[in-house]
Amino acid sequence: MENFVFYSPTEFVFGRDTQSQTGELVKRYGGRRVLVVYGGGSVVRSGLLDTVKASLDAEGITYCELSGIRPNPTDDRVYEGIEIARKEGVDFILAVGGGSVIDTAKGIAIGVPYDGDFWDFYSKKGVPTASLPVGVVLTIPAAGSEGSGNSVITKLDGMHKISVRYPMMLRPRFAVMNPELTYTLPWFQTACGIVDMICHIQERYFSNTTGVDLTDGIAETIMRNVMQNALRLKENPNDYDARANVMWAGTLAHNGLCGNGKVEDWSSHRLEHEISALYDVAHGAGLAVMVPAWMTFVAKKNPHKVREFAVKVMGIEAEGKSDEMVIAEGIEALKAFYHSIDLTTSMRELTGVENPDIEALVKSLNGNMGDTLGFYVPLSMEDCAEIYRLAL
Ligand code: NZQ
Ligand code: ZN
Repeated sequence: MENFVFYSPTEFVFGRDTQSQTGELVKRYGGRRVLVVYGGGSVVRSGLLDTVKASLDAEGITYCELSGIRPNPTDDRVYEGIEIARKEGVDFILAVGGGSVIDTAKGIAIGVPYDGDFWDFYSKKGVPTASLPVGVVLTIPAAGSEGSGNSVITKLDGMHKISVRYPMMLRPRFAVMNPELTYTLPWFQTACGIVDMICHIQERYFSNTTGVDLTDGIAETIMRNVMQNALRLKENPNDYDARANVMWAGTLAHNGLCGNGKVEDWSSHRLEHEISALYDVAHGAGLAVMVPAWMTFVAKKNPHKVREFAVKVMGIEAEGKSDEMVIAEGIEALKAFYHSIDLTTSMRELTGVENPDIEALVKSLNGNMGDTLGFYVPLSMEDCAEIYRLAL
């Protein structure tokens, strides 16, 4: 096991009706003048925004708004938020929504106290040393941003989608998590979230670090549990307990718990971020395409963990079979799971493009990540091109 630091200071307030506590929580964490950030309208239609505003009013907290944040959020909205926050003297950023809204809120939070361009923190020219506090009311279990120290923003100039991790600065102070708020999700978004959270665990699970059976055991349990509850939700999207387990799993998948003591990989995410930047597809849907292709490629060079995943997570019976057979069955079972929740594993089908521009994807990946990707099997850019071809 590697040495590690696990810093997870977020207060998670979980369960029915918890959104009415938002004002109280903002006040507890020092907010008096809030910038409320939200997306394209789901929180308006569901009445959640009104409830949140009423709870701010009840605590005498004033607020201004930044709305219309789109999936795969872009830097222009972060600049806009920084400007509003400075002009209005905001001391707290409240994200009401999913990963796109939360990541925008985080960009604003580190941008406001900084004299330079907030993009310096994403292009790795600088490291943030101050941040406004961020609170979250979560509406979709997926990105795990409510508990993560990460933010992912796309720079419109060049469509560079960049993920940064600054745990000491970017972990939200609190996250309100009411599973009932996710009943309004279209099935496609629920399914994308499920793939994303499983992948956050896979990125940590596929590792060459040994002596981490506790961390791996937690990871395996959560992955199996999410798949079981996904199938329950497909039958009944209003199954509270299934929603609740999936919601909590989304947080545990990405708050660091499943990677403690391990060298993490993250290749599938980097490969996917290029697809969602170029073709503006949902991140989770892009992962359903990339993960099986990545596994197929790396299993030939380093099979041990892919075999373990097949047996312990996908439940493949290994007795009397070669490793190759077990691995192939494990990858097929994973694909079958994605298909069972109505997602495609083909990049052509996902993007609607007959010949996705693999050269452009690799060029951008190379520019963003350098010449080598990942750790489980370090990938050259030619390897990455081959994985994109496997995903077609
Ligand atoms: O904009 P509205 O109208 O709110 O609709 C959203 C959006 O269209 C809708 N939605 C959310 N909650 C809803 C709802 N619709 C009905 N009812 C509800 N309760 O869902 C759509 C997707 O929202 P989005 O915030 O984009 O989803 P998600 O949470 O999957 O976030 C995706 C973004 O997070 C990044 C992804 O790359 C992507 O940009 N990631 C962030 C990470 C992090 N910060 O730690 C890690 C992840 O790996 C990921 O890369
Ligand atoms: Zn993700």
